[in-house]
Amino acid sequence: MNRVYNEHHIPVLLNEVVENLIWKPDGVYVDCTVGEGGHTRAIAERVLPYGGRVIGIDVDSEVLQIAERNLLSYPNVQLFKFSYVELPVLLSLLQVHKVDGLLVDLGVSTYQLKAEGRGFSFNQDEPLDMRMNLESELTAYHVVNTYPEEKLADIIYNYGEENFSRKIARAIVQNRPIQTTRQLVEVIKMALPYKEVHNRKRHFATKTFQAIRIEVNKEIENISKFLEFAPDYLNPGGRLAIISFHSLEDRIVKHAFKNDKRLKPIGDFISPTTFEVAENPRARSAKLRLAERV
Ligand SMILES: C[S@@+](CC[C@H](N)C(=O)[O-])C[C@H]1O[C@@H](n2cnc3c(N)ncnc32)[C@H](O)[C@@H]1O
Repeated sequence: MNRVYNEHHIPVLLNEVVENLIWKPDGVYVDCTVGEGGHTRAIAERVLPYGGRVIGIDVDSEVLQIAERNLLSYPNVQLFKFSYVELPVLLSLLQVHKVDGLLVDLGVSTYQLKAEGRGFSFNQDEPLDMRMNLESELTAYHVVNTYPEEKLADIIYNYGEENFSRKIARAIVQNRPIQTTRQLVEVIKMALPYKEVHNRKRHFATKTFQAIRIEVNKEIENISKFLEFAPDYLNPGGRLAIISFHSLEDRIVKHAFKNDKRLKPIGDFISPTTFEVAENPRARSAKLRLAERV
């Protein structure tokens, strides 16, 4: 499907990823969340002269088409529509037993937020969708219109870190059915105190939208599952790099890196510089954590 989209995704912590992930220039690296291919391209460029290669995967077939165009001139990149949770299956199909680096850049891509009709953004009026994988069954419509009030409240609280989660969940349930992102924004607005609605730092619907997106795409379950098997697919010395944008995700990554006997954390987390945040405000809450396979 061709959607109107006139922007492009700026990769976060790009130099920091390349400098820390690539330790073996002729190695095999997997970008588990290709998006528009910003990180994939930088890794491919660095390892190309040495015979290194990159396997790139994403669940979003539309974003992968953009990545394909952006990466046409890199013969050492192979792209696949796959979930990183199914990485073991893909590697076995490719007859690759172990790799030298795995990158996961969590969160949402600019394409998903800005292309018309994906239903991720509170700034556009669209059907409630928010699926990264357009073939999956669960949509934001389903979450908003069928989940019990208590479950919704927990999701908005845990995944959105929204203090008014109970009020918002109640307003959602009382105003069902809610068809579009604009209608959802209006319902959230009704549930919040005036001061929150007029908060200048952040749009008042940000946290609820984030929470619903995380639920629709099973983002917390996925990263937790990935961390269980990922170290087994790294060669000794191989590196795991994870960029998160959410304190819950970061806690899961930090905990896994610290307690997993197969891994040794490399330093503390890396944050973007003030220069990067000024250039790309989306980078504001990013944290890059790195670990090495022992
Ligand atoms: C922040 S974007 C990545 C941006 C990319 N690093 C770039 O520089 O263009 C996150 C991407 O992860 C993808 N994604 C989310 N969950 C995934 C999963 N389970 N498996 C594979 N890709 C996933 C999304 O579709 C989205 O394109």
